[in-house]
Amino acid sequence: MVAIAILAAGRGTRMKSTLPKVLHSLGGRSLVERVLWSLKSIAPTRCLIVVGYQAEQVKAALAKADTATLPALEFVEQTEQLGTGHAVQQLLPYLKSFTGDLLVLNGDVPLLRPETIQRLLQQHQEHQNAATLLTAQIPNPQGYGRVFCDSQGKITQIVEDRDCTTAQKQNCRINAGVYCFRWSDLVQVLPHLAANNDQQEYYLTDVVGQLSSAMAVDVDDNREILGINDRQQLAAAYEILQQRVKLEWMAAGVTLIDPNSITIDDTVQLQPDVIIEPQTHLRGNTVIQSGSRIGPGSLIENSQLDQNVTVLYSVVKDSIVQAGVQIGPYTHLRGPLQIGSGCRVGNFVELKNSKLGARTNVAHLSYLGDATLGDRVNIGAGTITANYDGVNKHSTEIGDGTKVGANSALVAPVTLGADVTVAAGSVVTEDVQDDCLVIARARQVIKPGWRLHPPSPKP
Ligand code: UD1
Ligand code: CA
Repeated sequence: MVAIAILAAGRGTRMKSTLPKVLHSLGGRSLVERVLWSLKSIAPTRCLIVVGYQAEQVKAALAKADTATLPALEFVEQTEQLGTGHAVQQLLPYLKSFTGDLLVLNGDVPLLRPETIQRLLQQHQEHQNAATLLTAQIPNPQGYGRVFCDSQGKITQIVEDRDCTTAQKQNCRINAGVYCFRWSDLVQVLPHLAANNDQQEYYLTDVVGQLSSAMAVDVDDNREILGINDRQQLAAAYEILQQRVKLEWMAAGVTLIDPNSITIDDTVQLQPDVIIEPQTHLRGNTVIQSGSRIGPGSLIENSQLDQNVTVLYSVVKDSIVQAGVQIGPYTHLRGPLQIGSGCRVGNFVELKNSKLGARTNVAHLSYLGDATLGDRVNIGAGTITANYDGVNKHSTEIGDGTKVGANSALVAPVTLGADVTVAAGSVVTEDVQDDCLVIARARQVIKPGWRLHPPSPKP
């Protein structure tokens, strides 16, 4: 039986933020959500989260997290944050009758892979240790607790960086902040922690020296154990995450041109033969199908792009875009939007909360909001929907095959039927039936021989 405890009560002073550290976002997901994700291969019976600083905010954020593989989260309050050992002491009343292993993770170690946690647990159970810790040997161990072992490999002591002597600082083996404990052993020593260290805190790391057997397991890839204490480490973690995500997509058949200038959230799904051009950013629940070419210079967020879509220097948010659509340059799609197959949405066009049928074009300098367009509609350059009367938004409906002349204003609410032709420069305020020509502008007047000033007399 395995229970999980995540330590997420600290403020994270070094972040210099009002937001609790564990809620800082790393590539679209909070640090603590990522810790939960790294546990997805374990089948724990309990999952406890120690909360303290801004507890309500942390609980609310985790209520929205994807925890499908985990049992219901149990929140444990640590009202005063007196250290990691004190945080784990708060679990005692919750795990009174518990008999298995407790996996403890710091809430600020977001890059762990599920396989690593699984391996740690396996080693722990195979060797029947009282404690097994994830460790790493890193060239610059500054800031981490140093792990000391005896000749048999048993951990004798962990000393925090700030409590290390100069000689102890030379030890490059560090504590990653991920621990497996046999609970029945931990309860013997946990209540007896002392706070005689530089920070006067109760350190969880102090228990290991008192346990009968504590083993260190080195991580395969040191980049996994980066702990986030400040903004610099947050940026470093983002870089590692990006590298990981991009290598995976390239291995899966996606072309990234100038990968360093591209960012991809790990929630994004791409098919083989997608091409991502420089300076392009893919975020949230975005799915892009084969043959699509995105960028340069584009942002796609929470959108679904079917096959062979092209996007050039554009922003696409909350949109469903069907196959073969061409977007940009300089298009802003603000969803919810549905763009039918083969549409062209072009240069300097903004679309908001609208639906376009198949093979419809809005190619130049337009704004369409709250509009529903049928198939094969052509919207002339500079056409706009006047959808807002200062109080309410109104909708515009345009039937199949209708052509709207350049520089027209469609004053909503208004409906144009199918195969309507709107003369250029019209201000359409009334509904138009199918198969009509509508001209809604003042007729041109020409006055021959007219001048503002009479010609001056010839000298
Ligand atoms: C800790 C370890 C250190 C290790 C490092 C790995 C201790 C004493 N030190 O140091 O050996 O190398 O992690 O990243 O454990 N927290 C609480 N309640 C508290 C204090 C902290 O819940 O009272 C939580 C924090 O929210 C955080 C985690 O525990 O998620 C770790 O705390 P932090 O202060 O970041 O510990 P480090 O100094 O990084
Ligand atoms: Ca830390």
